[in-house]
Amino acid sequence: MPQKFYITTAIHYVNDIPHIGHMYENIVADVIARHRRRMGDDVWFLTGTDEHGQKIERAAAKEGVLPIELADRVVAHYHELWKKLNITHNDFIRTTEARHRVGVLEMIRRIQERIPDDIYLGEHSGWYCQNEETFIPENQVRDRKDDSGHPVEWTTEKNFFFKLSRYGERLLAHYRAHPEFVFPETRLNEVRSFVEQGLKDLSISRTSITWGIPWPGYPDHVVYVWLDALTNYISALGFGSGDDKSFRRWWPTDMHLIGKDIVRFHAVYWPAFLMAAGVELPKRVVCHGWLLRDNQKISKSLGNVVRPYNIIDDFGADPLRYYLLRDIVFGQDQNYSDEAFLSRYNADLANDLGNTLSRAIKMSESYFGGKTPPVPCDDSELLRAAQMLVPEYFTEMDDLAFHRALEVVWKLLVAINGYIVGSEPWKHFKEHGADESLSRVIWNTLEALRIVCVMVAPFMPTAMREALGRIGADPDDIDRQAFEWGGLPNGAPVRVAEPLFPRVDAAVYIGGTMSNPPIETTQAVPPDLTKISIDQFKEIDLRVGEIRAAEKVEKSKKLIKLSVFDGESERTMVAGIATKYTPEELVGRKVVIVANLQPATLMGVESNGMVLAASIGGEPSLIAVDSSVPAGTKVK
Ligand code: MSP
Repeated sequence: MPQKFYITTAIHYVNDIPHIGHMYENIVADVIARHRRRMGDDVWFLTGTDEHGQKIERAAAKEGVLPIELADRVVAHYHELWKKLNITHNDFIRTTEARHRVGVLEMIRRIQERIPDDIYLGEHSGWYCQNEETFIPENQVRDRKDDSGHPVEWTTEKNFFFKLSRYGERLLAHYRAHPEFVFPETRLNEVRSFVEQGLKDLSISRTSITWGIPWPGYPDHVVYVWLDALTNYISALGFGSGDDKSFRRWWPTDMHLIGKDIVRFHAVYWPAFLMAAGVELPKRVVCHGWLLRDNQKISKSLGNVVRPYNIIDDFGADPLRYYLLRDIVFGQDQNYSDEAFLSRYNADLANDLGNTLSRAIKMSESYFGGKTPPVPCDDSELLRAAQMLVPEYFTEMDDLAFHRALEVVWKLLVAINGYIVGSEPWKHFKEHGADESLSRVIWNTLEALRIVCVMVAPFMPTAMREALGRIGADPDDIDRQAFEWGGLPNGAPVRVAEPLFPRVDAAVYIGGTMSNPPIETTQAVPPDLTKISIDQFKEIDLRVGEIRAAEKVEKSKKLIKLSVFDGESERTMVAGIATKYTPEELVGRKVVIVANLQPATLMGVESNGMVLAASIGGEPSLIAVDSSVPAGTKVK
């Protein structure tokens, strides 16, 4: 029976362009949405942007633009990025849209109408955190900072209040009756203990800012940004618009996917607002962990943002999608690093998946004239492996244990490789030609690979479509039946092509083309992602260096260890230029170097800087400098 499945992500602030944490959330939501769709569910996937409030007002003021101008610009980045990452959302809501305002006003109206004193005018003093746009309980404030280290200010405001204190018992009863309401359980415990400590009424309007939805009848108040933002999940469905078709179809949501930092808003405040308004509660609030850098949450306010746009450009979206879902245990925090990405890419994708596909396709090409073999097979160890692993995969997907679901798929890949080695098709072909028995072996291999591709499809949709086409299967083959053994046609053309995931020399990639992902802290919103500012350029210390000594790095085909005089001292640098230059011809040469790169260790040698070279089809060509220019001269 097809079910409806309404999934939402948090709506993202527009004070800055998206970073890896935002990408992670939408990629996870997309994997879930794609998986549900192919299981036959009717899916509605909502994402969007949170555009009101002090954060945005301040960021815009800092830039000297109107908040809406800032929002428009940042939203364009979101649209572009979600497209690049192949996010298949059905709707994108902005809280500055009229349909949203209508929904928020309806929410307030319903609360006031149902229980008139649930909203009252009152005065409130407390520690206010501008970053989180919320009052922080006294016991969480230390040295005028909140738990996350954001500054707090003692603030008194005359505001509208919501009688949250009235909802503690009902919330606790709801958690008891629906332990699945918050996932994972640790977050439910956290929320429960917060509620058990006693809930205070919540101030839900602001007079200190103007960038928001005006409070009905009180134009000097705007609606508190969280009441405003949370309502997006229903305003996007036409709540309050007079046309409640979508709302009736999709609400309550089957899954709010959010980061663990905003669980209180989603599992305490939001259900309380909904109870007060007489609206059904969400079925599930699912929390993911944080992407960290050096064990700290990646966030704009901490200034440690990672935006691996270069990885998306160089590899496409799929490898990043795979890495994030495979490396992170869903629900837990994890450091992001380019190195970890590259090692997964090379090991899992280039080697395990890519090579196995190429191998199987090449065998079909050589033994069966570029077609899938003529005889299918319904009895083999691969069939048994697939029949055992596919249900495991489903269980892991249902449990949101994506890394384990992928581990299960890789078990099938291991089985496929073992099967190829054990059956020695090359030997069989030499001895007996392309007979029925060889046909069965190659067909089994391709069929098991087809099932691998189908399982991986929600994670790497583009690459798996391509792979299915290459092995002679239907690229649209992503529905539930496709998991059953026997889907691969006989005699369908296979396609030998460039590797799906070409291996990357991690040492050269990290040391050369990419360096570390850019950290952008200076500008609230760079006007164009593809360009850097003059200040950013000036941060690069480019100088002329003189190569004083050179030797090949042991066991490396590409790397040469150089001793380069930078005008002040000699430093060791490693360059991936050995395919073009011998150590002897390098000594005495003047080159352009990046002198202020963080050291990187390449094949066990610490490199302090980078030598610039043009790359012609991967072949390096050093940037020439006139020999009369002294070492140390600045290049600008
Ligand atoms: N605007 C609020 C959400 C309102 S929902 C009604 C907000 N915005 S945010 O831009 O700060 O965060 C959006 C989502 O991204 C949140 O779920 C948040 O947890 C997630 N992430 C932001 N930084 C993150 C990491 N470093 N790692 C993983 N996800 C994190 O909160």
